[in-house]
Amino acid sequence: MSNKNSPEFDFPEANLLKGTELFNNCTNIVVGKGNPNSDILFVGEAPGKNEDLQGLAFVGVAGKNLDKLLERVGLSLNDVYIANILKCRPPENRDPLPEEIEIHKPWLIKQIKEMKPKVVCSLGNYATKFFLAKGEVKDMANQQGITTLHGKVREIDFDGLKIKLIPLFHPAAIIYNQRLLPLWEADMEIVKEEIRKSKEQKKLF
Ligand code: URA
Repeated sequence: MSNKNSPEFDFPEANLLKGTELFNNCTNIVVGKGNPNSDILFVGEAPGKNEDLQGLAFVGVAGKNLDKLLERVGLSLNDVYIANILKCRPPENRDPLPEEIEIHKPWLIKQIKEMKPKVVCSLGNYATKFFLAKGEVKDMANQQGITTLHGKVREIDFDGLKIKLIPLFHPAAIIYNQRLLPLWEADMEIVKEEIRKSKEQKKLF
């Protein structure tokens, strides 16, 4: 549970959210879940209803599917960390507004700088466009979508960090379209290969 008024959220990136419509309307702040010391960061869009109530990322229907999908390829929450672009649920799960992404993005950037992930898996269109646009919200609309880009590894320079970006279908999309499942599994083999490579490199240094 991450009570939004907790003193643990008294730092500049979190203080930017305070007093905004999303902050005033949400129950809890949702920071993330999983292992922050891993090399792999999954990033979704925004908390939904269950995430808001529990203060944890990806615990609703999409989250349960994500856990299952990770398990199918032999990964657990110990192998990855999972966060969102937005830390507060938009009312009725509406799409985030550009100005809301601007307000929330410094917190995600802080998480990325602390974690220094080798691989970022962007879940769905929104997160994929965010990373391809290097966090420049105005450039998000010009990026290609997940149907074209899923499973394609790209090296990006994100705020001074070299990251391998691997776009993946959003776990909610796979619930509604089971034909995406074999594509997800093939994409996850690519993710696992990148995890293997980053572990090898760690051993060398
Ligand atoms: N969808 C997301 O993108 N993030 C969550 O935390 C839950 C659903």
